[in-house]
Amino acid sequence: MCGIVGYIGKKEAAPILVDGLEKLEYRGYDSAGIAVYADQDIVVRKYKGRLSVLEEHLNNESIAGTLGIGHTRWATHGEPNDVNAHPHTNYAGDIAVVHNGIIENYMKLKEWLATQGKVFVSETDTEVIAHLVDYYYKEDLVEAVQKAVSRMEGAYAIGVISRKNPEKLVAVRKDSPLVVGIGEGENFIASDIPALLKYTRNVYFLNDGEMAILSENSIEILNELGEKVEREVFEVTWDIESAEKGGYQHFMIKEIHEQPKALKETLSPRINKDNDIVLDDIKLTEEDLEKINKVVIVACGTAYHAGLVGRFAIEKFAKIPVETDVASEFRYRDPFVDDKTLFIAVSQSGETADTLAALREAKEKGARVLAVTNVVGSRISREADDVFYTWAGPEIAVASTKAYTTQLVAMYLIALSMGLKKGTMTREKYDQILNELKTFPEKVEKLLQNQQLLQELADKQFNNQNVFYIGRGIDDHVGREGSLKLKEISYIHSEAIAAGELKHGTIALIEDGTLVVALATQDHLYDKMLSNIKEVKARGAYVIAVAKEGNTEIEKSADIAIYIPNTLDELTPVLSVIPLQILAYYIAVARGCDVDKPKNLAKSVTVE
Ligand code: F6R
Repeated sequence: MCGIVGYIGKKEAAPILVDGLEKLEYRGYDSAGIAVYADQDIVVRKYKGRLSVLEEHLNNESIAGTLGIGHTRWATHGEPNDVNAHPHTNYAGDIAVVHNGIIENYMKLKEWLATQGKVFVSETDTEVIAHLVDYYYKEDLVEAVQKAVSRMEGAYAIGVISRKNPEKLVAVRKDSPLVVGIGEGENFIASDIPALLKYTRNVYFLNDGEMAILSENSIEILNELGEKVEREVFEVTWDIESAEKGGYQHFMIKEIHEQPKALKETLSPRINKDNDIVLDDIKLTEEDLEKINKVVIVACGTAYHAGLVGRFAIEKFAKIPVETDVASEFRYRDPFVDDKTLFIAVSQSGETADTLAALREAKEKGARVLAVTNVVGSRISREADDVFYTWAGPEIAVASTKAYTTQLVAMYLIALSMGLKKGTMTREKYDQILNELKTFPEKVEKLLQNQQLLQELADKQFNNQNVFYIGRGIDDHVGREGSLKLKEISYIHSEAIAAGELKHGTIALIEDGTLVVALATQDHLYDKMLSNIKEVKARGAYVIAVAKEGNTEIEKSADIAIYIPNTLDELTPVLSVIPLQILAYYIAVARGCDVDKPKNLAKSVTVE
């Protein structure tokens, strides 16, 4: 995700930049850095680790200068270290860039720039921007940035300064956030409003493709065609705390709303113009794949639930037998793993002790190890042979939401790519599924617009002692995730069960008013689910059903139906989990729980 800031004015830039970065640390904290124009030069200080590391260095040796840019990083390309930290410069060091986003065509640009004699030092996509600006620089920074941006594909919010034009700070955004802060005799840029609030409450929001040219006393906004545009000043009235949460009450609901963007970041850089899936960090060749006769997916908690859907997808598309296990069990059951096994570790943090131990055991037994994680440079990513980064951005709330849905998409992309390479699915089927997956950011956006019913349900149902989630096939896997979400943040006892298992015991617990959430999104299992709903209704349950849009018949059996946009049965989990996340959230809010920091839980479990 990353956060960027910039300052131009009369005051010392460094403390203002650090101050702004502090408010953006929620966007990433792998490394932090600033570049300040001082003594006719650009001085860069950047260090791996949290912002405090940079602050310590600046305390020991400050930089005097009134123009600068800063960055706090959530690594995507290249592990967190000093070299990959931002700002990045061209080789001569006269242009400095900070960037939030992903440049999708950076490899192509990098190769081309290398043929033009540009020398790269980092593994980042951002360094390409500094070299591109340098390549196009004649006399004017604005023109050079415009030309550079016209070559860039992907998402970006950038701040650029040049030793040769120290009277300007240039910023551009496309699909990544950027606000311009309006001061008196000073101006600012930042990824988010909290970074500016200490200095100004007057801001301009930039639209996609727009550029802002800041000087001490002026701000000019240009559109994609380079034409000047007028923008109204927006006055921020929020306090700092709600500004950090983007105006939301909790990080969890903010992160639920970030899912369309997170899904887009996971998906779009991995699908090229020919609809091929490009998994740069997975070096598994067709021959490697030929050798693999078994896949083992291991994870904990929510990540395990993503693994269950992964098992379904890989078996369905790539026709390889898959086992899914919780890491704490896997490591103690002497599992059958050998050099023909592909071991997939799924972990948001990449630090979970049990998952890491399971990975080590699988490696020792000769398995090829693939990590699906959100944290670049995490231990699990470093010890794996191949890595798929979910690029969901930092997740602050303990209860995982956007990390889960991006893990699901990761599993689908891996399964589809394996299926196509192995020839176990036709190109037609592959295209059909991938094209549908590409619509998910919009479909999730649509789902998020409709929360009122769920909020009303939560307000009526928050006093339940027990809640049961039932489903069949992949609906059962999603039910487990819905149940975990509810129990961890609302402290209501909850259980998820395969609907067909009800009769074998759990139905004994259903009584008058018991809340049952029934997932019925699978066409071939729909009638069976209707029967299960009738079974629990007959014992007095109150049933909330989740079904695909159009399947209104369910309203005859359930008390309330929640609809998800129509989609392929194979892909429903990414959509059907959204109402469950929202329901759990509002139930926890209604119970007055500390939603973002539930009791007894930690975001990253680094002990057994
Ligand atoms: C639940 C949740 C946990 C984690 C689990 C694994 O909302 O977040 O169940 O999924 O602790 O953590 P990671 O994915 O970091 O390995």
